[in-house]
Amino acid sequence: MNKHFLKETDFSWETAASIFAFAAEVKAQRDHGHRQTLSGQSWGMIFSKSSTRTRVSFEVALRELGANPIFLNRNDIQLGRGESVTDTAKVLSRYLHGLIVRTYDHSDVEILASEGGKPVVNALTDFLHPCQLYTDVFTLAERWARPGQDLMDAVRGKKVAFLGDCACNLANSWILGADFFEMELALSGPASFAPGEEIMTLMKNETAGPRFTFTQDPYEAVRDADMIYTDVWVSMGKEQESADRIKEMRPFSVTKNLLDAAKPDVLFMHCLPAYVGMEVTQEVLDDPRTIIWDQAENRLHVQKAILNELAGRG
Ligand code: CP
Ligand code: NVA
Repeated sequence: MNKHFLKETDFSWETAASIFAFAAEVKAQRDHGHRQTLSGQSWGMIFSKSSTRTRVSFEVALRELGANPIFLNRNDIQLGRGESVTDTAKVLSRYLHGLIVRTYDHSDVEILASEGGKPVVNALTDFLHPCQLYTDVFTLAERWARPGQDLMDAVRGKKVAFLGDCACNLANSWILGADFFEMELALSGPASFAPGEEIMTLMKNETAGPRFTFTQDPYEAVRDADMIYTDVWVSMGKEQESADRIKEMRPFSVTKNLLDAAKPDVLFMHCLPAYVGMEVTQEVLDDPRTIIWDQAENRLHVQKAILNELAGRG
């Protein structure tokens, strides 16, 4: 049976540890050659939404692993004219070794996985963004690991404060991911953007149950935080709600005052793209506690490791 990566809990703890180890290895070795474990494979990349980091890092990752990426904008293939996701899955799986998919409905990646029979990677849905979450945790582990310490152990028990839209895909990924990586999570946003039913149900089914706090006081959330995270207030597909979202989320903008209210060695992360003056100030982006560029770079290394886990040969 093929493996897929549609959500954070699709891999075991041991597999996640080996993904982190492979990512660290290919990162350290990148200037000295590539491990071409996907040599000769062809992978499709179906994108129904915009992307800078995910698209480019996956294309580079596939090439450096020896595979051939085929970028498929939804509107360039018959999917955009109404061909079903099921038929698309059945046809593409006859040509390709795997699919990387960015789309709206999470059920689309599940159908592509179940009907196609080749590995599928979730490159963001409205519900989850697991490649980002694994990269975020790896980036923290790199920072926090003492010499010789296991990367997974380095994040265990650390406190993350997530501010802003606590009902978005990244918030959902942190809810599931913090539980998986045994981290503490404090979410803070307006009441109307509290975690939704779908993630609560998934947490009940996949884990021992939700294990996070939610507060409308951002200062309470960041108290004793080891890392503060935010995401855009207007996710892709929500543009028609922009004005209301911006008004409601204004108090949750990450400012220097909020960073100063966390632990002295707190780190700041953002999946990017950032909207300066909205969810984060320029002062915070320029602050030495910000690690967004390492975070963006690590998408490449961690996604290589995910692809290797799903389809690598040696
Ligand atoms: N963080 C992230 O997924 O960025 P892109 O939308 O640019 O891919
Ligand atoms: N929540 C954002 C993440 C972008 C990487 C969105 O879905 O647009």
